[in-house]
Amino acid sequence: MQQELENKFQEKIDKEIKIEPKDWMPEEYRKTLIRQITQHAHSEVVGMLPEGNWITRAPSLKRKQVLLAKIQDEAGHGLYLYSAAETLGIDREKSIDDLHIGKAKYSSIFNYPTLSWADIGMIGWLVDGAAIMNQVPLCRCSYGPYARAMVRICKEESFHQRQGYEIVTQLALGTPEQKKLAQDSINRWWWPALMMFGPNDSDSKHSAQSMKWKIKRISNDDLRQQFVDVTVPQAELIGLKVPDADLKWNEEKKKFDFGTINWDEFNQVVAGNGPCNKERIEARKNAKEEGAWVREAALAYAKNHLQSIVKQ
Ligand code: 3HC
Repeated sequence: MQQELENKFQEKIDKEIKIEPKDWMPEEYRKTLIRQITQHAHSEVVGMLPEGNWITRAPSLKRKQVLLAKIQDEAGHGLYLYSAAETLGIDREKSIDDLHIGKAKYSSIFNYPTLSWADIGMIGWLVDGAAIMNQVPLCRCSYGPYARAMVRICKEESFHQRQGYEIVTQLALGTPEQKKLAQDSINRWWWPALMMFGPNDSDSKHSAQSMKWKIKRISNDDLRQQFVDVTVPQAELIGLKVPDADLKWNEEKKKFDFGTINWDEFNQVVAGNGPCNKERIEARKNAKEEGAWVREAALAYAKNHLQSIVKQ
């Protein structure tokens, strides 16, 4: 019986029929989606912190407005994704507690410090650029609610990437001090951005099954390669040097060959030993505690409002 159900499920996947919350699904499929979608949501929420660090220090009112708009988008992406995860039967509060106690992951990239305004441009250009690369295929994910959430999120990511590249372009083509700021920033963010795509395919423990279930459509290494091939010309166009001595155009393969990622660094950051891991989780725990009164007030208002409707 179980095997028959699993065969029918895989047939639906193979025929590109979306799986919806009330459909039968293997427990492992559900678990994989809960893991990936909640960690994706955590990444969006934690990802607000490095950028939030520069709201009060943005160099102009316009830059402040754009940064505020982007950060608000990220908050919305997080809420969207928690809602998508809830369709799989998770409890949002528990999922957020798992993040706070170190049981759940979020993207390694958000554990690096934002040391200059150029870093805010670099996050938009490289981090959101990498996120778009990884999220566009997720619009075709086999799980309906996740795929649909991704469509709207990707539209907003494109604005994030453009405004980031504009910030970096202005610096790279500005004064020598500004150009140095931009070069110093790409030197610190380039390799962590490549790590966002996850381990090499040969070391990825989830890819094979996620590809079979059409959760993951393109492999970690192929997406990373696409990102490098698109982004290196953008850096060269504004005179920035990508910090990789092994980077070289391979005419035969029509793509860039590039150096080896420091997987020790990746594993250390993912294990919680990155430059800002502790600070990020502390900030999230404080936000939850300091925001408790808002949640209580909203619940009290909702209860009163409901009671007044029932009495009518
Ligand atoms: N940071 C932290 N953990 C990572 C990671 C990274 N950059 N890359 C991989 N991992 C973890 C995986 O979560 C998995 O650990 P787990 O079993 O404890 O969950 C382990 O490393 C093995 O990696 P796999 O490649 O086998 O795992 P996946 O098949 O899940 O692939 C992924 C990893 C490509 C990140 C995939 O989970 C994914 O596509 N997630 C959805 C997109 C996402 O989360 N992007 C993160 C950035 S969001 C963002 O940038 C927001 C933007 O607005 C700025």
